[in-house]
Amino acid sequence: MSTRQISVLGLESSCDETAAAVVRLTLDEAGQLAGPGDILSNQVLSQIDLHAPYGGVVPEIAARAHITHMDRLVQQALTQAEVTLDDLDGVAATAGPGLIGGVLIGLTMGKALALAANKPFIGINHLEGHALTVRMTQAVAFPYLLLLVSGGHCQLLGVTGLGQYQELGSTMDDAVGEAFDKAAKLLSLGYPGGPEIERWAKKGNPEAYPLPRPLIDRHNLDTGSGAELACEFSFSGLKTALRQKADKLAPLNDGHVSDLAASFQAAVMDCLADRTRNAMQVFRMLHNLSGEVPLVVAGGVAANQALRARLETEAGAQGYSLCAPPPALCTDNAAMIAWAGAERMAGAERMAGAEPIVDAMATPAQARWPLADVSA
Ligand code: KG4
Ligand code: ZN
Repeated sequence: MSTRQISVLGLESSCDETAAAVVRLTLDEAGQLAGPGDILSNQVLSQIDLHAPYGGVVPEIAARAHITHMDRLVQQALTQAEVTLDDLDGVAATAGPGLIGGVLIGLTMGKALALAANKPFIGINHLEGHALTVRMTQAVAFPYLLLLVSGGHCQLLGVTGLGQYQELGSTMDDAVGEAFDKAAKLLSLGYPGGPEIERWAKKGNPEAYPLPRPLIDRHNLDTGSGAELACEFSFSGLKTALRQKADKLAPLNDGHVSDLAASFQAAVMDCLADRTRNAMQVFRMLHNLSGEVPLVVAGGVAANQALRARLETEAGAQGYSLCAPPPALCTDNAAMIAWAGAERMAGAERMAGAEPIVDAMATPAQARWPLADVSA
């Protein structure tokens, strides 16, 4: 039986998606999630066509496109959800990390809407949006291990509660999505590179070219040196090896491209699987967890079907169960931002003496904002 519902409008503009959504969270009598959230609307405008000619996101072009389209998307999100600003409990917007011009646009518009409608405003860390998406889609309970893999991030985090994110490891160089994008560019495939590599890899032989698996088997879980590397990632050496192989084979025909894509994707999967395996052991040990623990994968790269299948197997072997949002909610969207806002409003209500949430009006825009720095 439900006792309280929280409806939030969310805005996202930190990279190359302009997005607005309305989401409703339902609490049970104990103030806990009564079940998955209701996505009342989810408007996403991708800027891929604008950036594709450059093979990557151009910040100035992204910011200009956000400002051109955000007001219309907000209007569409409210219309699709059949609500007005008055019906909402709050307004949330991404406050970082991301391209600062874009972040400022969504954040400023979110604050303005909240002020005009006299509603609380909540500034959201974009990564927290990705981290909490599975609670919106599947009502996954804390604690869980999170593999966050996107264009800008590659991290393993222990999530023990709202605002409780412990970094177990992250990339020492490129993010995994960035590695996919660079590999695709090198093979003259389209942008974004992840889906292109995945598509070409399906036609290729993953064992055609032996590529390095950086840091693999570098684990030393209980003592001494090397322990800090147990959950770290590195992709730049792999990218260089791919370039050297491609240079040697040039000019590339379709067979080369599909075999290179398949070999590259296989190497990435091995690295992600190896490090996630270490993290599953570390997380279980750190929190003395018994029984089945959720392994959550989120971020744009989580849309990759080969990765999902591989993680499913790895999770099973460690007594974990894989939970992944549907692919459309893995890539950037505003439903996850609205949801994180609703979770924060619910969290503030639960905490006696919590700061009045309207203070969030002072939230600054931040280009860099590690999730581990986000507090409850
Ligand atoms: O989360 P996201 O939409 O934006 C960021 O916050 O970065 O992630 C975008 C990244 C891009 O690098 C894109 O190439 C990658 O996710 N990606 C994929 C797939 N779909 C998107 N990578 C591998 N396989 C995919 N199917
Ligand atoms: Zn993202």
